[in-house]
Amino acid sequence: MIVKKIKIKNFRNIESAELKPSKRTNVIYGSNAQGKTNILESLWLFSGLRSWRTSKDAELIKIGSEKSVLSIWVFTEGRNQKIDITIDKNRTAVVNGIELNSMSELAGKFSAIMFSPDDLGLISNGPMERRNYADRVISSIYPKYSALMQRYHRAVEQRNSVLKDYRIHKDLDFLLDDFEKEIVRAGNDIIIYRKRFCEKLKQYCPAIYEGLSNGKENISAEYISSGGNTPEEFIENLKNSRETDSINLATSVGPHRDDFEILIDGISARKFASQGQRRSAAITLKLAESKIIEEITGNVPIILLDDVMSELDKSRQKYILNHIKGRQVFITCCDPSNIEGLVAGKVFNVEKGKVL
Ligand SMILES: Nc1ncnc2c1ncn2[C@@H]1O[C@H](COP(=O)(O)OP(=O)(O)O)[C@@H](O)[C@H]1O
Ligand SMILES: [Mg+2]
Repeated sequence: MIVKKIKIKNFRNIESAELKPSKRTNVIYGSNAQGKTNILESLWLFSGLRSWRTSKDAELIKIGSEKSVLSIWVFTEGRNQKIDITIDKNRTAVVNGIELNSMSELAGKFSAIMFSPDDLGLISNGPMERRNYADRVISSIYPKYSALMQRYHRAVEQRNSVLKDYRIHKDLDFLLDDFEKEIVRAGNDIIIYRKRFCEKLKQYCPAIYEGLSNGKENISAEYISSGGNTPEEFIENLKNSRETDSINLATSVGPHRDDFEILIDGISARKFASQGQRRSAAITLKLAESKIIEEITGNVPIILLDDVMSELDKSRQKYILNHIKGRQVFITCCDPSNIEGLVAGKVFNVEKGKVL
């Protein structure tokens, strides 16, 4: 997918702007608070998802305006297409002149991967962040996965509510048997999806990370099941944890407690990696995600990178600028020295909401 032109009207601090990006790397450059991230955010909205910065659409409209209009001309599915988004009281999208029923229909039309400094949490934070990330990516590829997650969580909630009474009424164990069976049935399917995702990360991450780190380090991913390695172990572990779980009123094993660990040179990135390594690892995950989406859905996402340059050394910066192959990249930065290594692409200077 290639964005050929974007027009922005009354969006955030941008009254009116038009960009004709390069099909390679596009650097959006300027001082702080000029509107660089706003441009990435406007592109992101074409994926049909909410902004990563706000859940309130009203905040997206330029203060003092009634509505915001974003238009994009893209080459995708082998032809030129135009998408318009209007944000007023609601958000609506029009593709090639035809209005969509819901924003979620854009997901099949437009695909973007976003990296913002918050995504460092993917490496640095606890397992929940990585689980949520994996679940988001998997459900964007396989819509059925969300229903599976709901089924699983319902079974866990049911087990937890029985556990409350089980402390006194031990004869309720027959109910626990049933709910635990359901937890293992749904949970095992979740684990299969997640392990497959992990295998894909293992397949794509090393080459990206090697490029980023100049071949000096290697990266890997490992899925860690809290419930054990087989469905039989899982059901056994649930049964064995009834007593402690009934005290804590929580189910202590299962996919909702699993993790996938990112390893750099064989050791946990979360525990031991430097800031620069974490940043590289988080970027690597996102770029690998774009490869996975391409492999499974056939869509080649655009890559949006917000403020990634500052903490990377020169060779990592050069990789980001020039070696994300076959993808259109949009990248913001403040420091002109960060973009000296740009070989092919365009630079857009943003000042006070205007693209100069
Ligand atoms: N709805 C809005 N209307 C007008 N200005 C806004 C709106 N939302 C954000 N801004 C302004 O946009 C600017 C930040 O833009 P941003 O793209 O985040 O900057 P940066 O160039 O540092 O990435 C701030 O000055 C902020 O006040
Ligand atoms: Mg910014």
